[in-house]
Amino acid sequence: MHQLFALALLLAIVYKDIAYAQSTISQLSAPSATSVTSTRPLIKDPASFVLPFIGTTNGGHVFPGATLPHGMVKAGMDTDSPGNHAGYDGDPSFNATGFSQLHDSGTGGAVPLSNFKIWPFAQCSSFEKCATSINGRKTLRKVLADGTPDDFASPGYFSTNLTNSIRVELTATRRTALHRYTFPAGTKNPRIAVDITNDGQRSSTNPVMTLDPETAQVEGGASFAASFGPGRYEAFTCVSFKGDGFELGKPTEYGVWLADFPVKGTTNLLQVYYGFVDQLGALFTFNPAPRGKTTVLVRIGVSFISSKQACQNAEEEIPDFGFERVRSAARQQWNDVLGRVQVDPTGVSRETIQLFYSSLYRTHISPADYTGENPKWNSTEPYYDSFYCNWDTYRTLYPLLSLHDPITFAKIVRGMVDIQKNEGWLPECRGATAMHFIQGGSNADPILGEFFVKFHEHAAELGVSANDLYNALLADAEIQPPNWNLQGRQANIWKELNYIPHDQFDAGGANTKQASRTLEHAFNDFTISQVSKILGKADDAEKYSKRAGNFANVWNPNITVPGGPGILGMVQPRFANGTFNFTDPRHCSIHDPAQATCFLNAANRDGFYEGSPIVYSQYVPHDTAKLIELQGGVDKFVSRLNFIFEQDYFESTNEPSQQMPFMYHYANRPGLSTQKARQTIAQFFNTSTNGLPGNDDSGAMGSYVAFYLAGLYPLPATRQFLLSSPYFRQISFFNPVFNTTTTIRSGGFVGNPANGTGGRVFVKSVTVNGKPYRSSCYLDWDVFTSGSVVELTLTDNIGVTCGKGKDALPPSLSTGGYD
Ligand SMILES: *[C@@H]1O[C@H](CO)[C@@H](O)[C@H](O)[C@H]1NC(C)=O
Ligand SMILES: *[C@@H]1O[C@H](CO)[C@@H](O)[C@H](O)[C@H]1NC(C)=O
Ligand SMILES: *[C@@H]1O[C@H](CO)[C@@H](O)[C@H](O)[C@H]1NC(C)=O
Ligand SMILES: *[C@@H]1O[C@H](CO)[C@@H](O)[C@H](O)[C@H]1NC(C)=O
Ligand SMILES: *[C@@H]1O[C@H](CO)[C@@H](O)[C@H](O)[C@H]1NC(C)=O
Ligand SMILES: *[C@@H]1O[C@H](CO)[C@@H](O)[C@H](O)[C@H]1NC(C)=O
Ligand SMILES: *[C@@H]1O[C@H](CO)[C@@H](O)[C@H](O)[C@H]1NC(C)=O
Ligand SMILES: *[C@@H]1O[C@H](CO)[C@@H](O)[C@H](O)[C@H]1NC(C)=O
Ligand SMILES: *[C@@H]1O[C@H](CO)[C@@H](O)[C@H](O)[C@H]1NC(C)=O
Repeated sequence: MHQLFALALLLAIVYKDIAYAQSTISQLSAPSATSVTSTRPLIKDPASFVLPFIGTTNGGHVFPGATLPHGMVKAGMDTDSPGNHAGYDGDPSFNATGFSQLHDSGTGGAVPLSNFKIWPFAQCSSFEKCATSINGRKTLRKVLADGTPDDFASPGYFSTNLTNSIRVELTATRRTALHRYTFPAGTKNPRIAVDITNDGQRSSTNPVMTLDPETAQVEGGASFAASFGPGRYEAFTCVSFKGDGFELGKPTEYGVWLADFPVKGTTNLLQVYYGFVDQLGALFTFNPAPRGKTTVLVRIGVSFISSKQACQNAEEEIPDFGFERVRSAARQQWNDVLGRVQVDPTGVSRETIQLFYSSLYRTHISPADYTGENPKWNSTEPYYDSFYCNWDTYRTLYPLLSLHDPITFAKIVRGMVDIQKNEGWLPECRGATAMHFIQGGSNADPILGEFFVKFHEHAAELGVSANDLYNALLADAEIQPPNWNLQGRQANIWKELNYIPHDQFDAGGANTKQASRTLEHAFNDFTISQVSKILGKADDAEKYSKRAGNFANVWNPNITVPGGPGILGMVQPRFANGTFNFTDPRHCSIHDPAQATCFLNAANRDGFYEGSPIVYSQYVPHDTAKLIELQGGVDKFVSRLNFIFEQDYFESTNEPSQQMPFMYHYANRPGLSTQKARQTIAQFFNTSTNGLPGNDDSGAMGSYVAFYLAGLYPLPATRQFLLSSPYFRQISFFNPVFNTTTTIRSGGFVGNPANGTGGRVFVKSVTVNGKPYRSSCYLDWDVFTSGSVVELTLTDNIGVTCGKGKDALPPSLSTGGYD
């Protein structure tokens, strides 16, 4: 999903924990073991620590507007930035072009979902002279003294001041946006345009629109292009107006506009729509307020079914146009979900707390709850959309939901299973109800696996049918779809050869990324074996864990890397006849002499997606022990990891690298993991608008950073979390399914070293509920279900180990597997 970025090569020492120096003092007042289970929250208003503008410049493509947790409506500013995938750009040199209602966050592709823009005019010389097109109306924002735009955002709310002195404020419910436009004093003819067709791509066809000259209600919709696939979708809106503190009355002027030409007195698009115009909507002139500034509320219902349903959504969700009520209800929902994770702020900089809650916040933007808005089939099951893409999010987003938001997780799983029942395969990448291109495996499998491994005892009560879930997994694993470029897998050849060959041109998909797809299918099948085991299906469990070993089939033991003495063996593309082709291990890395990229649109695709062969040669999350063996033993494995970090083969912007800093755990060198994980945060993630190294990928990066700051890294569809030290003296997770809170405390915490290196941050030993734990490298899921107190003893000695017992190392498939 990432655009190509010039990767910063220098180790920028960027993250400064100002509290580090003074924190030894507050160590004295550490809470006692008994106080940690107290229900009194340490952070009462976590929303106040959220900085929605992180990642809104330099290609982060983060959406900073108003939405609920997983809300369908995401009301925000659109700009004329080339990076306006989420509408907004934090660089004030870009003009505002509208305030639209949907959006995704952190994606690539073509601009998704910037539908149904609203635009206020303070000073057109006449109704007919209002320049209603995007280019005609666009306006810069005001700029503050520090050079930043005069924009503000907090969970559930967004505001800006335009240079024409109009103030804009936005808030939202699930399917309805509420805007508040305040015109400058003295505005005689406040005007507002509704834009039906400008979706960010100018892809509209078949527009419809009517307006009511008495009430100014607008109903309309059109068909639009999806963002990352061949499909289209229809969307509809219903827009109504109300004076804030005064009676708005009937509009004094009204009409349909096409491009820059408003036609006064018209009420139906068909009256003026003689040929294809891709910019159109409605324009109104309203009565000004009798005294003071004129403020107009605009309520925008949205639906993927019909404009009638958009009107119902609006009327049901915001009958009173109560801006402050909607805004505070939204903030309350955010505080409810964010507040389930509590950190102790003592001895930690505000910036660290902000980075944590902002990252947790971005975990809850997508997928979005479109229940009731699925145009493709009727169902009583929930419907979630904006899986953009599972390839990005399966690694960290869903495991984070397991810890504190399993009820939402269960609804997402139900929605996915329902998609499989109706379309035949689980969704892989999906936006605006349309299928998008796959990037690798069938990565709903680890998501469903994650849910089932962690919540199978509660599946029925959460409305998830174990039988349907299992059938959905088997369909992905066994049945090849007619178009496996959009869902499912190239299953036939996978079953036949036990890898995806480099030279097989199969109908139904692109003959690309075969080596990385092999690795992903191996992991996908591992996650299915985990579910089979729980269901007591021993034969299936054996079959899929065998297939989980297929990663070794694309390992060529003879490959070396220039500049990497002692490194031998790499994942490589393999032909159907069993011989290997050769792809330079540096392919797609910053050291690639051919400067190739491995993005979907890249011309030179040699078997890998968004990662070099060097990166993918680390990607066997379920069997690192076997990987260590393939790489020639523990010492070789450690020196290869060191080489990867020293030579900048680690790719902070792409998910296949995400686990890498933690991999030293498997070599019994967890101190090195702690160091690398903390250096990764220090170097690549901060609270600035450019504080993401690339796209947020629908919360994939947000959830990743939240885990690192919590001192944890998950392995989906297992019961283990790799353990390091949290950035906090104490962090706790409340789990509403178990009604339990688990608290991790850092004994001896003295703050966080600014550069990520050194200091007292290494885990020497672990107790759970006062008893020594079997490992200081991982925690089992039981610790979280029962609600435990985990106490870490920290040391400044990087040479710590996982412990002495036979279960001290984290599990691997080939050394006994997972329980
Ligand atoms: C913003 O709009 C103004 C006026 O149309 C234009 O001169 C300027 O180039 C625009 N800025 C960008 C970044 O396109
Ligand atoms: C916009 O202007 C108003 C005053 O009219 C001010 O209260 C507000 O802080 C400004 N900035 C934003 C982002 O709303
Ligand atoms: C869903 O049900 C409604 C009401 O019966 C019907 O109008 C609509 O066509 C159905 N949608 C689909 C996709 O079957
Ligand atoms: C690797 O090299 C050895 C020794 O030359 C050879 O026997 C083996 O076939 C090679 N393996 C591959 C996959 O090329
Ligand atoms: C294997 O297949 C590749 C590509 O199709 C071909 O170039 C190669 O000659 C074949 N090797 C053997 C031993 O058949
Ligand atoms: C082998 O790899 C090279 C380099 O990536 C590529 O140009 C060639 O087409 C591949 N051979 C086959 C038979 O796919
Ligand atoms: C913040 O992170 C970005 C992205 O990794 C980096 O380019 C930038 O230099 C960092 N800024 C600061 C102030 O640390
Ligand atoms: C959850 O646990 C608390 C005590 O920790 C208890 O007061 C409450 O009744 C429990 N809620 C449910 C629904 O069991
Ligand atoms: C990083 O910070 C630690 C602790 O403050 C210090 O000991 C170490 O020398 C620093 N390392 C670098 C590379 O600056």
